Amino acid sequence: MSAPPAEAWRGVAAEQQEDEITGKLGTLLRRRSRRLLTDLLGPYRRLVLAIFLLIVAAQLAALAGPWLVGVGIDQIPQLTRTRNAGPMALIIIAFAVSVLVQAAATRSYIAGIGRLGGRVVLELRRRLFAHFQRLPIAFHESYTSGRVISRQVSDIDSISDMFDESLASLVSAVLSLLLVGGGMLLLDWHLALVVMAGFPPLIWLSIWFRRESAIAYRQTRTRIAQVIVQFVETFGGIRAVQSFRRESRNEDIFGELNQANADANLRSQRLLAVYFPGVTLVGNLAIGAVLLYGGLRVIDHQMQVGVLVTFLLYLQRFFEPLIDLSQFYSAFQSAAAALEKISGVLDETPSVPEPELPTSLPEAGGPAARGRQVRFDHVRFGYRDSTVLPDLNLTIPAGQTIALVGATGAGKTTIARLLARIYDPLQGSVLLDGVDVRQLADRSLRHEVVLITQENFLFSGSIADNIELGMPGASRSEIIAAAAAIGADAFISALPDGYDAQVGKSGGRLSAGQRQLISFARAFLAAPAVLVLDEATSLLDIPSERLVQDALRTILTGRTAMIIAHRLSTVAIADRVLVLDHGRIIEDGSPEQLLSAAGEYSSLHASWQESLA
Ligand SMILES: Nc1ncnc2c1ncn2[C@@H]1O[C@H](COP(=O)(O)OP(=O)(O)O)[C@@H](O)[C@H]1O
Ligand SMILES: [Mg+2]
Repeated sequence: MSAPPAEAWRGVAAEQQEDEITGKLGTLLRRRSRRLLTDLLGPYRRLVLAIFLLIVAAQLAALAGPWLVGVGIDQIPQLTRTRNAGPMALIIIAFAVSVLVQAAATRSYIAGIGRLGGRVVLELRRRLFAHFQRLPIAFHESYTSGRVISRQVSDIDSISDMFDESLASLVSAVLSLLLVGGGMLLLDWHLALVVMAGFPPLIWLSIWFRRESAIAYRQTRTRIAQVIVQFVETFGGIRAVQSFRRESRNEDIFGELNQANADANLRSQRLLAVYFPGVTLVGNLAIGAVLLYGGLRVIDHQMQVGVLVTFLLYLQRFFEPLIDLSQFYSAFQSAAAALEKISGVLDETPSVPEPELPTSLPEAGGPAARGRQVRFDHVRFGYRDSTVLPDLNLTIPAGQTIALVGATGAGKTTIARLLARIYDPLQGSVLLDGVDVRQLADRSLRHEVVLITQENFLFSGSIADNIELGMPGASRSEIIAAAAAIGADAFISALPDGYDAQVGKSGGRLSAGQRQLISFARAFLAAPAVLVLDEATSLLDIPSERLVQDALRTILTGRTAMIIAHRLSTVAIADRVLVLDHGRIIEDGSPEQLLSAAGEYSSLHASWQESLA
């Protein structure tokens, strides 16, 4: 296992790189993000349209209010003259209606957006989880768990925020700028021009803010993702961290990232501190100018007082959205970047894809012959640039137990992984009863081949739950029978809660050997046709191993098995031994044959016997 800090840095660096790439895209959504968004919104087309119409209605109603106030004010002289309250009453009723329409429409569109956002985020999270689970081990080896969590948490959060807070404000801000601006031009274009004079400084200020805040905001996103990545990976490897005394070094790294995150936040706060008062100042200056110029026009009888009041009321609605726009610009940008990263993950295809039309294996023979023939046919495989298996040819007849031995790094685990289809060969094929494993549906392959390794992952839950995974729906007596067959019943029954004992996080409450026994019981229950054990007994003490070995003899009857072990005592139960060297099979025969052949196996055996003495 590599030390967690290095892992963390790898994740941090990858995260940074990806951020730089998505950052360069700016606000524009890339094609795959757009495709994802269209796909997600597709089922809600009507809702989207309804929301848009409601926002327009709310904005128009909001526009009507100040206009009615102005008209009302201009009615006052007439009212004092004619003493007819009719027109005034109408205006007041219209005002009341506009206010009510605005309230109702706003309520509905906020609720609508909430519903839309909720559904989209729900679906996005579901898809991301399902997809991450299906992506190959090779993907997870490079995409660290911290980054997986960043996608699921902070990225989805920023998309969710976008819906909850920004989207409605964004659309209403644009609409109100257009509508209010248009309204002012229609009412009195002279005065509107005065307002427009405030635009150049505002535009300049907004462009500056947008540019700076985009940088600052992106930095805050990257920094928080880095903090998460470092956090997750330190605690994922907490055992190694403590045993290598990496705590203070990790604290330094974390401290740096945490400080960088705080700095980035401070920077974007400072920008806001300049921008908000700036816009407000310009807005207030515009109000002053309108009051002055409008007042003069009213004195000259070129304009009515009511229109001036309408203008002043509009002005307030005019500058506010500008602030919103700039503020939500960064939220929008961060949601776009998040969407881009998520769609990138969703675009990753499983490197071991399921066949479109799976072949099914022929029914295996009678109960005594449940094994399958395994064949490696000119298999070539390597990780990234190194070749591990140059050209592997191997046939294991149904029901045979083979032992695979060889030096560390010879490629034994790789062969086991190819058989369990964790990877696909670069060339050649792996066949079960003559059928390429790539032709089989995942479900049936997982049923046929079970791989047990040293890392016996247990899920939180009880011991019984963990054994039951081998055959979902198994009864308690079947579970106990499986545990008994493997020799695990004794220790489980001795636990205070027996089969209901909780195993703790990743089985942390059990010893490594106990976890191993449980995973054997799980495999026993699964009853696969082909069983692959990769150093699976290496964590057991000698007596337990002997127990397991006796059990193995029972389990393996009628099954095809590949046992990888460095304790040669395990090899004794094999019908046939293969010695692997640099990805090539250099010896192949029964244990007795190889022992007498004075080759690699017999020398391995000799040194092993020496080590026992
Ligand atoms: N996930 C991986 N990525 C890159 N190289 C790997 C990976 N797994 C194994 N290797 C390399 O492949 C070779 C064979 O490894 P492995 O099959 O695990 O050997 P064994 O199980 O015999 O010890 C080794 O050189 C190892 O460094
Ligand atoms: Mg190995």
